[in-house]
Amino acid sequence: MSAIAAQRAVRGRFLDIQHTVCQAAEIAQAVRYIEDGLLITTAGKITWFGPWQEGQHLIHPELAVTHYPEQLIVPGFIDTHIHFPQTEIVGAYGEQLLEWLNTYTFPAELKFKDQAYADKIAEFFVQELLKNGTTTALVFCTVHATSVDALFEAAQQHNMRLIAGKVMMDRHAPDALCDTPESAYSDSKALIEKWHGKGRNLYAITPRFAPTSTAEQLSKAGQLKAEYPEVYVHTHLSENKNEIAWVKELFPAHDNYLDVYHHYGLTGQRSIFAHCVHLEEAEWDCLHATNSAIAFCPTSNLFLGSGLFPLKKTWQKQVKVGLGTDIGAGTSFSQLQTLNEAYKVQQLQGDKLSAFESLYHATLGGAKALDLDDKLGNFNLGKEADFIVLDLKATALQALRQQQVSGIEQALFALMTMGDDRNIHSTYIYGEPVYVKA
Ligand code: GUN
Ligand code: ZN
Repeated sequence: MSAIAAQRAVRGRFLDIQHTVCQAAEIAQAVRYIEDGLLITTAGKITWFGPWQEGQHLIHPELAVTHYPEQLIVPGFIDTHIHFPQTEIVGAYGEQLLEWLNTYTFPAELKFKDQAYADKIAEFFVQELLKNGTTTALVFCTVHATSVDALFEAAQQHNMRLIAGKVMMDRHAPDALCDTPESAYSDSKALIEKWHGKGRNLYAITPRFAPTSTAEQLSKAGQLKAEYPEVYVHTHLSENKNEIAWVKELFPAHDNYLDVYHHYGLTGQRSIFAHCVHLEEAEWDCLHATNSAIAFCPTSNLFLGSGLFPLKKTWQKQVKVGLGTDIGAGTSFSQLQTLNEAYKVQQLQGDKLSAFESLYHATLGGAKALDLDDKLGNFNLGKEADFIVLDLKATALQALRQQQVSGIEQALFALMTMGDDRNIHSTYIYGEPVYVKA
């Protein structure tokens, strides 16, 4: 394909955040809103972005312009914590975390021993991400190495940037879902060699959480991270009070829950800890000191009754944070619905979550949490061209509501409160349209 053939031009209303910030109050100044803009991509990367008036001379006869006069174009959403094998168990009734795992989750994950089944759900899962405007995700697979193959193969079909890993789990789960310290190490190592940096795929070492790994297994996970420092670490932390009490029993010598992971070398710049609802002060300090990140999963925290995540504290403590849907404890693949619940979680704590801060967490902030803000998260030149076209009036009620708003911030807030997959008009990955709403 020639360089010209690989070029695309998109015209419309664009909104993004120009740079990362240290405080929520700085976000408004970093917002870039272009009412009539032009984006040119070349071989998957952004090569020109700005007002249509300034860029229209770059359009030549072989470069067709796709024009979205009515919609809003934003960077693709980033989901920093999700489980692909739990796609089928969203909305399972009645339990909190530990009982929910035994009653619903482990039986669902057992099915992934069957490669054909894993392939089928992986394909469905990737389609569902695209349909919801999620262009990058950090994903839990199951203990089976083949579940990772299934997911990366499905993602690769669409050229998606995905981070994923095989679950490590050697106790407190059904035998058929348990590996050993040695097999977890060797299987994960083989998967790193096979997938990390292949195309846009990246690997995450994925111990499920401290209660389902022995000290020997966590030590092996740390050994692997030391051997491959560029890969990610992805696990759960401090989600539920019974879980925290259990970790104290299982690891009595450690100061706190995070200290278990820290001791084994599992904190750091590419370590992402899902939930962190009930952290102690020392744990916040350790997350900051190690430049680790949190995945905030509001629909899950509400659904499992886990608690209210103090988002404001991430700014106070200077800890990176992204948004996670946490399917299937979370109840929606949509980052818009996730933001809807994130807002309410802050309201219940007397805090505000603005529309622009919400956009930040769903895009550039999420990219920063995943250490990918040099590649993703906004329309800066050289970034990978993952973006979505939003329809702000996908329902009659939304159309009625949008007539009442004044300005982009109010329009965005109404979208985030009322929106879901119906608002995703198109999803572009690496410059190419991979989903268009029927
Ligand atoms: N903690 C350990 N495993 C899980 C899981 O699958 N989902 C959630 N929400 N928390 C966990
Ligand atoms: Zn989870």
